[in-house]
Amino acid sequence: MMTVVKLGGNSMDELPALLKFVAGIEGKVVLVHGGAPQITAMMKRLGLVGTFHQGLRVTDEATLEVTQMVLTGQVNKQIVVAAQQEGLPAVGLSGIDGGMLQADVHLGGELGCVGTVREVKVKLLHTLLEKDFVPVVSPLGLGPQGGVLNINADMSAAAIAAGLNADRLVFLTNVDGLLDDTGSTISNITPRGVQELMDTGVITQGMIPKMESALSALSGGVKQVEIRNAAEGQGTTLCREGANDVETVC
Ligand SMILES: Nc1ncnc2c1ncn2[C@@H]1O[C@H](COP(=O)(O)OP(=O)(O)OP(=O)(O)O)[C@@H](O)[C@H]1O
Ligand SMILES: [Mg+2]
Repeated sequence: MMTVVKLGGNSMDELPALLKFVAGIEGKVVLVHGGAPQITAMMKRLGLVGTFHQGLRVTDEATLEVTQMVLTGQVNKQIVVAAQQEGLPAVGLSGIDGGMLQADVHLGGELGCVGTVREVKVKLLHTLLEKDFVPVVSPLGLGPQGGVLNINADMSAAAIAAGLNADRLVFLTNVDGLLDDTGSTISNITPRGVQELMDTGVITQGMIPKMESALSALSGGVKQVEIRNAAEGQGTTLCREGANDVETVC
């Protein structure tokens, strides 16, 4: 059993609860984390203003510097420290380590140094998992010219889950799952249902890349995707239409 868990930057205040949830997962676990609020806070301290395009951070050179510093230097280590306290033998690394996340420049560079994952090299992750370590990955990738690219954490988690052929991908976030137009949690949904919510504008902001990532993980072979809040204990399960192995889940 292999599970990839994505920790949202918005949920860092609840880190102990999130990691208790992670410590309860059976089998192998890989953590991938975001850090949007922490990057925004550091940019503010440095007098920089961030802009977003459909949930993706526009990343010029200065923004990339801050992103790399905050994700790998601050947030990653904060998670590794907190994970050890929950008994998880965590090892912090970024998507550039071991050449893990091979990326292309997104939208021809329209958003600056933003990448999309082309290929995941899983050797380093397998090496750590074999020795029972819990890898904690920050979402940076290597571009075609060898430069560093900022990759959305949800997309990184989905690519890693597909690359590892994971059974389960869990997005731990600050909302209690995917919410409908009345603000209620949707317990189960299919890709078609997600598309309808996208088209009708119910899914916005950071939930756009999250759901796109969820869909790509499913089509990449991941059996089950969940969006949930560890503290509340409930959330949304995304299932493939007509797939026998997930019909029981839905
Ligand atoms: N239909 C929806 N259901 C639930 N949340 C939604 C919906 N549409 C938009 N959102 C927004 O998406 C947010 C979750 O995505 P967000 O990117 O902010 O968090 P995260 O991915 O956990 O953190 P990070 O991006 O820092 O890793 C919610 O806080 C909410 O404001
Ligand atoms: Mg997000």
